[in-house]
Amino acid sequence: MPTPASSASTSDAAHYGPQLGDAEFDFIRHVVGENAGIVLGPNKRQLVQGRLARRLRELGLPSYEAYCEYLREAGPEELVGLINAITTNVTSFFRENHHFEALASYMLPEAMQRNAASRRLRIWSAGCSTGEEPYCISMVAAEVLPASPRYDFKILATDIDSDVVAAATSGIYPLDRMSSVSQERLKRFFQKGGGEHLGCAVAKPELKSMITFRTLNLLHTWPMKGPFDVIFCRNVMIYFDQPTREKLVSRFSDMLAPGGYLCIGHSESIHAGTAPFKLVGKTIYRRNGGLNG
Ligand SMILES: C[S@@+](CC[C@H](N)C(=O)[O-])C[C@H]1O[C@@H](n2cnc3c(N)ncnc32)[C@H](O)[C@@H]1O
Repeated sequence: MPTPASSASTSDAAHYGPQLGDAEFDFIRHVVGENAGIVLGPNKRQLVQGRLARRLRELGLPSYEAYCEYLREAGPEELVGLINAITTNVTSFFRENHHFEALASYMLPEAMQRNAASRRLRIWSAGCSTGEEPYCISMVAAEVLPASPRYDFKILATDIDSDVVAAATSGIYPLDRMSSVSQERLKRFFQKGGGEHLGCAVAKPELKSMITFRTLNLLHTWPMKGPFDVIFCRNVMIYFDQPTREKLVSRFSDMLAPGGYLCIGHSESIHAGTAPFKLVGKTIYRRNGGLNG
């Protein structure tokens, strides 16, 4: 890790409190880029300062110079705190709903056909944030998969940010974040929270039991073998540079069953020729091969 050379202060910082200087900003950008793949452009200084302000307070540090020094000394231990503070975790239930419609109408039915013998179905929500995405996948699966004979159906939900993974694992959501979940689904899949969770919906065991939540950096080695029938990696690659995206897409294709699907975010795309994928719907890519060619 390079050490900040100086502590120049920002001239454009409009508010009080510690200011993030040039050298510290460059250092943090470098560390985040190297370790999480997240590219922080020169225009992200206010965002970084805002997101790290709380971390400074938590650690009782007076300045970003002191924080960078701490980060350099603590190394991997504080890397978690830094990355948790920097990541953008915006998500919502049934965000980009066409993916969930496609999951119900052809992705799961095709996977059931393909895996008729093994009855094994696997979905990966890569960059799951606070869990809305994998819970939506599990709601759709509960609606589509037959009760008998049973499928060995599992969702792996991963994120680099350990705070959001903890929130996702709890399965507890304020009701005002659930306006895109129909009353019917709310009633079937969630129960009312009590005590400290009053005003919240709590995912029922039927949903939770389908999902395994794990902290995982997509840039690192993946412990799972696959193959997956569907991979959701939506609104994650947008933060990476092009070589990192291309490498990731190629690794996703290796993890997918032939004929499996990759769903990406609305502002993301896969360059033709970078991997064995065919665009088959809005931000839906099908891996070549499998039953339907
Ligand atoms: C904007 S959220 C997307 C959530 C959800 N997929 C959606 O579309 O609603 C992006 C997520 O990617 C995660 N992320 C960023 N860099 C990552 C990395 N290198 N490995 C794994 N997850 C990462 C962030 O922590 C964040 O929770």
